[in-house]
Amino acid sequence: MPSVTVRAPAKVNLVLSVGPRRQDGFHELATVFHAISLYDEVVAEPDEQVSVTVEGVHSELVPTGDDNLAVRAAEILAAYAGVTTGARMHIRKGIPVAGGLAGGSADAAAALVACDELWGTGLGRAELSILAARVGSDVSFALMGGTALATGRGERLTPAMVGGTFHWVLAMADEGLGTPEVYAELDRIRGRRTVAAPAVAPDVLAALRSGEPEALGELLGNDLQPAAFALAPGLEATLEAGRALGALGAVVSGSGPTCAFLVHDSEHALDVAIGLAAAEVAADVARTIGPVPGARVVT
Ligand code: C5P
Repeated sequence: MPSVTVRAPAKVNLVLSVGPRRQDGFHELATVFHAISLYDEVVAEPDEQVSVTVEGVHSELVPTGDDNLAVRAAEILAAYAGVTTGARMHIRKGIPVAGGLAGGSADAAAALVACDELWGTGLGRAELSILAARVGSDVSFALMGGTALATGRGERLTPAMVGGTFHWVLAMADEGLGTPEVYAELDRIRGRRTVAAPAVAPDVLAALRSGEPEALGELLGNDLQPAAFALAPGLEATLEAGRALGALGAVVSGSGPTCAFLVHDSEHALDVAIGLAAAEVAADVARTIGPVPGARVVT
């Protein structure tokens, strides 16, 4: 069997409502995931063992042992399907590491699709999605792609209708944030206050259906933002710089530190990207569109 290459997208959270911390340490969420055109690629070849190598910006920060999410995904699939062989995987990172864009989850979703193809296990998307949720909260979505309302810890997905393509500018920071640290900071800020059940306003789903960025922009929001600001104080200035450049909405993506700016169209995206780069508020700037499909074989 020749190698299999799978591409999986990054995500931004259009809205992230964080409820109370659960007994298992996770937080109950209501969020809207939106897959964007920034990708990691996983190339898998048959081998005796499961292993991984990684290339790309800050790839040295990605673990290559059993704690690598692609390795975990491949091992969970092998155990589930009774596969006794392995896979040598190579990850090409296009998604910033520790950026709040679910790059590790994209790798896990890509690994599931790649190994399913490589090993001929032939599981359907529904079965792969159940395995995905065992690897991490965002992995099922990286498999599904598009735009989806998510509840639970982020693994219970309902596809959302979207009436068009949205244009985004991303501002990347040079140092990542750890997701567990950001959630812990939120708990610290909230202290003993009672936390309401998480919810996504119906207006958000209506704005998505309309396909109008002007309607969606003002509804973007993220409960993790105060915690991300506390750990990475420069982020408020980055969001402000994007707003000053006319972005329709500005939000920290997931646990950060990447900031996502919704813009009118591709021309506006170029203006905002150039403006952010000139303002020197970001280590790197990227233009993307969404929604895009989830993890797919590309060879
Ligand atoms: O599921 P995943 O491995 O992506 O989660 C990483 C960490 O993020 C968890 O260990 C937890 O600290 C935090 N988290 C959370 N509630 C969620 C999702 C993630 O507290 N719903």
